[in-house]
Amino acid sequence: MQVYQRFPLRIVKGEGSYVWDEQGERYLDFTSGLAVCNLGHVPPAVKQAIQTQLERLWHCSNLFHIPVQEQLAQLLVENSCADQVFFCNSGAEANEAAIKLARKYAKQVKKTEAYKIVTFTQSFHGRTLATLTATGQKKVQQDFHPLPPGFRYLPYNDMDALQEAAGEQTCAVLLELVQGEGGVIPAEPEWVAALDRLCKKHGLLLMVDEVQTGMGRTGTLFAYEQYGIEPDVITLAKGLGSGFPIGALLAKAHVAQAFTAGSHGSTFGGNPLAASAGLATLNEMLHPSFLPRVQELAQYLSNGLKALAESKPTIKEVRGKGLLQGILVGEGQAKAVVDAARDKKVLLLVAGPDVVRILPPLTTSKTEIDELLNVLEACC
Ligand SMILES: Cc1ncc(COP(=O)(O)O)c(C=O)c1O
Repeated sequence: MQVYQRFPLRIVKGEGSYVWDEQGERYLDFTSGLAVCNLGHVPPAVKQAIQTQLERLWHCSNLFHIPVQEQLAQLLVENSCADQVFFCNSGAEANEAAIKLARKYAKQVKKTEAYKIVTFTQSFHGRTLATLTATGQKKVQQDFHPLPPGFRYLPYNDMDALQEAAGEQTCAVLLELVQGEGGVIPAEPEWVAALDRLCKKHGLLLMVDEVQTGMGRTGTLFAYEQYGIEPDVITLAKGLGSGFPIGALLAKAHVAQAFTAGSHGSTFGGNPLAASAGLATLNEMLHPSFLPRVQELAQYLSNGLKALAESKPTIKEVRGKGLLQGILVGEGQAKAVVDAARDKKVLLLVAGPDVVRILPPLTTSKTEIDELLNVLEACC
């Protein structure tokens, strides 16, 4: 079905930061499969782990213990503020699970009738009925009514509106710390701190959608680490499996206890192949030099983009976090820049009509970033 506005390219091979089309043309892929291939294409350590698992066991139902899944869960909780993990297959599913968990926690543990979840305008949380309703963008919801009840929207980064989060039967708040699809908009630290205080004061769950910002993308394993907060719930997908589909819902123990046997489930969630991809991916990112290098590359990219913006009036603003960067160009011009860059063999994305989104693999190099900057100089 024609649900994607596809680029006129047929990709058949990938290695590191590059992909090749059917004609053998090579492109610098600064889309990373939409923030999925954070270790680049076909990263050797993950390939090795999947190959080993392929010889052993592909699938086994979640009615059995799955050691490799347990190892991945263990490593995720050791490296986050969460205590327990539920595995699924995508970002939307992880958020769907978070929405269910928030409702069940309110009912079963807190014994309240609160069920509403506050989300923010311009957010993106997925395409299932509940997650597109959580998404604060009308265009994503259009023609899918009636939408499930239980969501309220507030303006993002708006200190004054924050007070409205509490009350009205609200049980949780769900937010991205950098709105990816919505235009690469980082959350203001003071606003996040105020939101965190408000959640604590009113007993609301603070749920962070790290589907795009997680797995090293912003320079720390999770973006929340840079805000001095400890979310009650974290959702992950995209970069977790380096391209093998896997999603995860992480929660603090007191919240996770609301899910008991039969509350939720997934046939494929965290199956041995997916879990082996996730485990190898996370192990790569936990090498002591990995994240400092991402931070150094991010600084290099951000400096380069800011320098470019000074000489190019087309670029109105450079914003983002880590290796999730956006440049604000003129009204409706983002696609033209992305198309022009593609003609010069560099793949980029849009995030709305005015923002060019740049998502290099976290394993990129300064030379590749220079290649991008040269192409942008010619295209802006
Ligand atoms: C922040 C965020 N949440 C959720 C999703 C949905 O993830 P998926 O497409 O894996 O369902 C996305 C996808 O772009 C996303 O960026």
